[in-house]
Amino acid sequence: MNKPVKIAIDGPAGAGKSTVAKIVAKRLNIEYLDSGAFYRGITKIILDSNIKIEDYNGINTILKDIILDFADGRIIVNGKDVTDHLRCKDVTLNVSPVSSIIPVRIKVNEFLNIYSKDKSIIMDGRDIGTVVFPDAEYKFYLDAAVDERALRRYKEKNTDMTLDSIKESIIKRDKNDKNKKFGALKIADNAIYIDTTNLTLDEVVNKIIEKIKIK
Ligand code: DC
Repeated sequence: MNKPVKIAIDGPAGAGKSTVAKIVAKRLNIEYLDSGAFYRGITKIILDSNIKIEDYNGINTILKDIILDFADGRIIVNGKDVTDHLRCKDVTLNVSPVSSIIPVRIKVNEFLNIYSKDKSIIMDGRDIGTVVFPDAEYKFYLDAAVDERALRRYKEKNTDMTLDSIKESIIKRDKNDKNKKFGALKIADNAIYIDTTNLTLDEVVNKIIEKIKIK
């Protein structure tokens, strides 16, 4: 591959973005990065520091010293591997408000851009095609009915939450994510919209691969 290619996959929680993006990355032999994992990593550090989510100044203070990294598929915050804690209930319930804090978004976006520089990468999130990579060569927006999204997250089995509480938290996060002042979840102007509710994983992957012409 000559010129580095950026592929943005946005959409609400549980639309299948990360599962699909990982497979597409393998098929194209490029790197995959889950931007939401960094919001979750920062949320974990905030919760561990006993700082309240409403404590804007407290969060700003620890944010200044937060160092994000990604190595061997692991999410590292301040030198600590937090990967195995990112899907726990406390993090899931607090990540959306944390990701609404503008300095948090600036911190994550800075890291994502530095990490991806000069690389071909497929990245999933909420604002990849709109804010992180506005010039991405390929942009997709994956969507699905909320019941289906909750069921998919439940079946991942890496959560301590019930199906009902997952659905409830998804509805709450969707609302918050779509109404953020900065980096809100929305369909980028030139994104390809895919409703995955009744599609198999293979069908979604193939739809995306069909559109991408990487030489
Ligand atoms: O994809 P996820 O469920 O792991 O994302 C966790 C939260 O982070 C979600 O509430 C939205 C937020 N997020 C964001 O605001 N921008 C991104 N690019 C990725 C995630």
